[in-house]
Amino acid sequence: MNEKAESTQQEQKIQVAESALALVPDDCVLGVGTGSTVNCFIDALAASGKRLEAAVSSSEATTERLAAAGIQVRELNHAGTLDLYIDGADEFDGHRRLIKGGGGALTREKIVAGASRKFVCIVDESKKVGVLGRFPLPVEVIPMARSFVARQLVALGGQPELREGFTTDNGNAILDVHNMDLVDPVTMEQRINNIAGVVTCGLFAIRPADVVLMATASGVIEF
Ligand code: 5RP
Repeated sequence: MNEKAESTQQEQKIQVAESALALVPDDCVLGVGTGSTVNCFIDALAASGKRLEAAVSSSEATTERLAAAGIQVRELNHAGTLDLYIDGADEFDGHRRLIKGGGGALTREKIVAGASRKFVCIVDESKKVGVLGRFPLPVEVIPMARSFVARQLVALGGQPELREGFTTDNGNAILDVHNMDLVDPVTMEQRINNIAGVVTCGLFAIRPADVVLMATASGVIEF
């Protein structure tokens, strides 16, 4: 990506992050995702002075950024059902189904999304696809099962690649799976999650986003 495209993408991340702020009710319990778009959202949230009851974080990186911004973080186990979850994505389709996990936080993200009444996904326009699967699908695996899971993923038609030098917040490995056929992402999410040793895959199709806000050159579009 050239410098101009990068700065346009960064502007779009800021734009969509700011528009998501309007959806955050005062005094709510807010789930906060992970990634560069969410970082823009955390910055906008901190600058807005909006009151929250608490924030629930989806990663160590987000916890640190929230704490640095003076936003109180609550353990999910002490939070009950969350009012709203805001997170980014690596890809989304026309049914608001997502691929997530480019930052490796997919498991906690899926847990916090599942614990939330409403999931609002914030993206720039580079993330929109007709069919999921251009972005390699991240799969979090228990380390001892890595090779076994990789063989199962090959049997499902993918080409898994170990994310070298990376350990998730849960102490696990990530396999990034290339060229997977994701025409039916709900079935594929179930199949992959059923492999012993898989913690979860980065498909958010069984529980898609409720709303996707996408920044474009001419403003934010809602799906
Ligand atoms: C992290 C994620 C992120 O939401 C995804 O990678 C998008 O990140 P960014 O906003 O930096 O493009 O799933 O695990």
